[in-house]
Amino acid sequence: MIRNSQCETGISFVGCGSATPKKIINNNQLGQRVDTNDEWIQSRTGIGERRVIGENESLIDLATDAALNAVKMANWDVKTIDLIILATSTPEDLFGSAPKIQSNLKASNAVAFDLTAACSGFLFALVTASQYLASGSMKRAVVIGADQLTKWVDWDDRKTCVLFGDGAGAVAIETTDNQDGLIGYDLKSDGSKGGCLNLFQSNIFLDLVQGAKHQKGEYLPIKMEGKEVYKFAVKEVPIILGELLDKYQIKPESIDWLLLHQANQRILDAVASRFSIPSEKVLSNLKHYGNTSAATIPLMLDEAVRDQRIKPGDLIACSGFGAGLSWGAALFFWHGPY
Ligand code: UT7
Repeated sequence: MIRNSQCETGISFVGCGSATPKKIINNNQLGQRVDTNDEWIQSRTGIGERRVIGENESLIDLATDAALNAVKMANWDVKTIDLIILATSTPEDLFGSAPKIQSNLKASNAVAFDLTAACSGFLFALVTASQYLASGSMKRAVVIGADQLTKWVDWDDRKTCVLFGDGAGAVAIETTDNQDGLIGYDLKSDGSKGGCLNLFQSNIFLDLVQGAKHQKGEYLPIKMEGKEVYKFAVKEVPIILGELLDKYQIKPESIDWLLLHQANQRILDAVASRFSIPSEKVLSNLKHYGNTSAATIPLMLDEAVRDQRIKPGDLIACSGFGAGLSWGAALFFWHGPY
């Protein structure tokens, strides 16, 4: 079922921000570690380099910087933030990393929590935050997508290690009495296909006391059946986006920007071609960051807003997809400055 915000209160996208690690690892450098090369990686994925969190950096710091940049763009007093949602699958603390970001921001009136939906996480968090705003119970929210998949990658598995990088992005959204910026959205899950892409816990049990064992808290590296995930993405993303466009009677040619989860340039191209969207309207920064999971969409949005490709009033068709399996789409207007 496609949902829309269907509420008296609209939502306005008024700020965005991002932050990435300093360390850049290019494809040739990865070729020193595994049997791969720049030509293969570029032609199969569009990725040229990725950023990796180093010793003096942290995901929470990146997420804080991204959020702060979004709040600055929105020109908010941090005390007016009601809600902070951190979409991540790689928290520094399994109990949740969002409260630490709330404290770093000095956003003392905000409630903060983590949300996990892998690469769809940002979109799921955005829609979740929009419900609080639409209900009228909150006015201002910061939605962050941040991931450090490089700590869970098997750096000796060439099929996955070339794909991922670290980063953080954020948006600032607030209620508005004017036109609702979030036109509509849809979110989906299919756990029956979850085996295609996992970051499973290890199944190690250690002795606790006589006659009892306890499970050791530990995770295995990322495992992915790339072809299956690829097929899923190029099938489901056009369906969910197409249904949304139909529902709101928006023609693909009215879309100003196609903003997809940055997993593979071939997926971006395939989806764009299904809607005959020209390449100039397809946002891509895969070349520089690879797949930063929950961060890809706000990271790309921030780049395109700050370099003034995205202008106030532009219509953005957005879709995220990934582990779960999970996927979603949203149509929204950018209302912020620039
Ligand atoms: O964010 C979550 C969503 N994730 C995705 O959307 C990922 C979706 N999947 C993909 O993007 C693609 O499936 C990959 C980029 C992961 C792989 O591309 P592919 O065209 O499906 O390649 P493949 O796995 O079928 O591998 C083709 C060949 C194989 O060799 P053989 O068996 O044909 O001899 C692989 O061993 O390419 C080989 N290969 C590599 N060669 C050089 C696989 N990885 C590499 C590599 N360098 N890094």
